[in-house]
Amino acid sequence: MNNESPLKAVIVVTTTAFLCSVVVTVAAVMLQPMQRAYEDLERNRAVVAISGLTDRAAELSDREIVTLFQELEARIVDLESGAFDERYNPGTFDTWKSAGDPALSTAIPAKQDLAKLNRRSRLVTVYLVKDANNLKRMLLPIYGQGMWSTLYGFLALEPDLNTIADITFFEQAETAGIGDKILKPAWQASWRGKKLYDENGKLRLGLVSEPADATALAAVYGVDAISGATITVGAVTNLVRYWFGPHGFEPFLEAYRVGSVQ
Ligand SMILES: Cc1cc2nc3c(=O)[nH]c(=O)nc-3n(C[C@H](O)[C@H](O)[C@H](O)COP(=O)(O)O)c2cc1C
Repeated sequence: MNNESPLKAVIVVTTTAFLCSVVVTVAAVMLQPMQRAYEDLERNRAVVAISGLTDRAAELSDREIVTLFQELEARIVDLESGAFDERYNPGTFDTWKSAGDPALSTAIPAKQDLAKLNRRSRLVTVYLVKDANNLKRMLLPIYGQGMWSTLYGFLALEPDLNTIADITFFEQAETAGIGDKILKPAWQASWRGKKLYDENGKLRLGLVSEPADATALAAVYGVDAISGATITVGAVTNLVRYWFGPHGFEPFLEAYRVGSVQ
């Protein structure tokens, strides 16, 4: 065919475009498992970072993270019954994906939906850190809507299942330099030692409204502000209040505390 022919130009351009799209599609499909494995690894690194098993998770190699992660006891909690569910493998069960599965998820009543999720999975994977069968920490997933993005993280509890040992977020897309300050170690450290519930079992975290003893209450239940990022910090406080409220982990934590689930 003549090189000057418009038909030849159309054929060459179309064929090149088609071949390029095939290459891109095949590469994207082939890289998907690798990308998923990388995401899992980053999530597991976040879990290990608040497990109390190491204080330098960010510097550990992937292999070291996997080794420490395997020391944790992964269990699936049924949030409706407040008991462990043994039917699924916690190694492969996907809490976040199940939130979109009508058979495995439940609608959140609008009044209780502080995390702005609409639905959540009925079953949730938690991690127990144990030393000779004694609970050292419990790591629970938390997530909810921030200002611009869904914030995904974990909160670690001390063995009293009330004192916060640590908090971390492994996925978020808040504004760099503003909302993403929730990733700063200093802010995360300000959560350590704070309590979720008062002595009557009432969820108090984040709510410091009584002026009479506001300072004393803030020291125990208050969440530190981040100047200029009030919306993201408010969202974190609200999602923690959802997950540790009556529609979240509260029934399970009560049952675990009194020993009726093990
Ligand atoms: C472009 C832009 C991005 C912003 N991103 C965030 C954010 O990610 N998180 C946040 O809490 N506030 C963000 N803000 C600020 C909020 O609009 C709001 O002013 C702030 O949360 C109030 O905090 P303050 O009461 O400490 O001033 C952003 C503002 C602008 C203009």
